[in-house]
Parts: sequence; structure tokens; C-alpha cells
Amino acid sequence: MNKDGYEYEVAASGRVNLIGEHVDYCGGKVLPAALSLKNYVRIRANGSDKISLRWSDIPLAVTLDVNDLDKYRSVKYANYIAGSLYEWKRAGHDVVGADMYFDCKVPFGSGLSSSAAIEVSTIAAMCVVTDTPLDKPEIALAAQRAEREYAGVNCGIMDQYASACGVAGHAMLLDCATLTCEQVPVDLGEYSLVIANCNKPHNLVESKYNERRAETEEALRTLQTALKINCLAEVSVQDFARYGSLLKGKVYDRAKHVVEECARVEEAAAAMKKGDVRVLGRLLERSHASLRDLYEVTGRELDALWEAALASPDCVGSRMTGAGFGGCTISLVRAAGKEAFIRALTERYAAKIGYLPSVYEAEIEDGITVKKI
Ligand code: GLA
Repeated sequence: MNKDGYEYEVAASGRVNLIGEHVDYCGGKVLPAALSLKNYVRIRANGSDKISLRWSDIPLAVTLDVNDLDKYRSVKYANYIAGSLYEWKRAGHDVVGADMYFDCKVPFGSGLSSSAAIEVSTIAAMCVVTDTPLDKPEIALAAQRAEREYAGVNCGIMDQYASACGVAGHAMLLDCATLTCEQVPVDLGEYSLVIANCNKPHNLVESKYNERRAETEEALRTLQTALKINCLAEVSVQDFARYGSLLKGKVYDRAKHVVEECARVEEAAAAMKKGDVRVLGRLLERSHASLRDLYEVTGRELDALWEAALASPDCVGSRMTGAGFGGCTISLVRAAGKEAFIRALTERYAAKIGYLPSVYEAEIEDGITVKKI
């Protein structure tokens, strides 16, 4: 036990997605990686039936009743934590009284999944003080239910899965229909990955996100009249060329993005296995263009950041990552030119948008870590 009386420090990662955007809820494959930007939870069991919550940077103290975890849905900051514990308990696991201290190093609103990091680390911390083995996929699924059913954000499984199951130095090729996952080494050779936040204020992610989901569901229902499919990701590029005309307007565009993005994920995974960073870079670029033109989730700020990245000779590819409407881009940049790249990116973006982007230093690390303190 350390001087503050906590026994363990348990952490879970924020994530980037290399490619496969807005396809997880269509049963597609995604290629995310867990970051060294994490949410840290210090925890000790306290022998009561109360869970006390404190934060490093939020002047709040909230107490949760272990036997009534359902009632904190509208308590800001605590709802994701209460929801995770509620779902974990509902799935039949032990949830006991504890003191928990949260320190989130995943920037809020960055699109790097601070909420998944909070949910997953909360459940993992509870596992540690109740001697429950860390079943990472199961933790990810409970965390996703917390976000969907408790906090009311209708997300896919990618973020929670990456946060829980990430492996240092690897991206995971996750099939969101079957939840099978292949760890693919991220070996970028002379290139490195730069994560930049466009810092767009007030983005309306949730309502727009749910709108896109509804459009893809409509596309699926229509295509099911012609094709035997369970999800949009099962539609091949060839099938789409044949039957896509059944879809109209924006619904056609959304579905086209999903079908082509799924094909790009396969190509990207193959390129990574071959160490072909240039091919990977071109696929990132095409993914962004599709998210801009067909899925319409980029916006002026992310597009400006993307263009600023691609204008650098040392950059071989860039795209937005996550839900979009704000948040981050990832860029593949020749390591030797990284500093010059960041300087030029910052200048070009600020000249166009009027404020600065943020650039994060992050490595690809294990999703969940546990330390006795
Ligand atoms: C958010 C959601 C994920 C996924 C991405 C878009 O991060 O939480 O489930 O849908 O957007 O790829």
C-alpha cells in the first residue's frame, strides 16, 4: 500500500485506428492500436458497499452505492464509471466497495477514446481488487454496453476492444462481426506515426454519429432485398457495383464508403505485413477522401489538418481517425523529418483555421496494465 493508501494502479489505453473507419458497426474489420496515452485508476477495496470516486483534475467527489448502480446515469463524469460497474455486476461479476482515483491522460474530446479508456480501466481495476481474472474481451463488451445502454452513445466495439486487448507494438486486425482478432506488428521502418488534434471546439459527434448508423442500417435493409447478407461489410466491391443502384442519394454514398473501406482494410493489413509503408500511406489518404466525400464526417478543420500534412514531402499518408467531426489525424512521416513536419503542419493549419493544432507523443502499448503500488 502506498502513502495515499491505494493498493493498485490499473490503466487502460486510448486508441488510434489506422484504417477501417465507420465500419465496426457494419460488421467490418478495423485496424486500431492501443496508445501510451491512458486512463489511470488507483484503487483499494474499502470493505463497505460504497465506491468513492475522486479525480486528479476535476474538483468532484462522488459516492456510488454498490447495490444501486443504476441510478447515476445523469451524473456527469461518474456516469461512465457507474455504468461500467453496473454492466459488470449485471454480467454476474463481483463489484465491491472501493476507493478509486482517476487520472486521465487521454485528452478529452480528442477522438482518441478517453471514454473507452475510462470504462475499461474501471472494470479492470474492479477485477484486480476482487481477484477476478482479466478476461479482456469480456471487459471490452461490458464497457461497450456501458457506453451504449447506460451513457446512451450507440458506439461499435472497436474502441473498447482496442483499449482492453491492445498489445505493445501491434495493431489489431479485429473482425467486428466475429470478434476474432489478429495482432499485426506495426513496423514502420524509417517512418513514424504522428497524431495531431485539430482542436475543433464543440463538435456534435453523437447526433451525427447516430445519423450515420441509421443510414447504414437503411442501406443494409435495402441491399438485403437483393443479396443474402447479414451486415454491410459482407457486400463485396463487385456486388456493390451490381446492386448499389438500389440505394439512393446519401444512403448510397454511405454504403459505398463502407464497402470500399472494408476492402482498403484488407489491403492495408497486407501492406503492413510486407512492411510497405508507402502503400499503407496511399490507403490512408484514400480513406480520408472517402470519409470526406462519401461519409461526410471530416469537416473543415480535419480536412485542413490533412491537407497540411500531405503538403509535407516527408509525409507518405494521412487520415482522420475515430468518429470524426473533429479530433485527430494520423500521419505517416519519415522519422528524420518529423520535427520539420510538425512545425510546417502547425504553421499551415494555424494560417488556415486561426488556432493551433496539438501534436501528441505516443507509443503503441499494451491496452491494460496493472501495477501494485
Ligand atoms: C467511434 C466509435 C467506434 C467507431 C468509430 C468510427 O470511435 O466509438 O465504435 O464506430 O467512431 O470508426
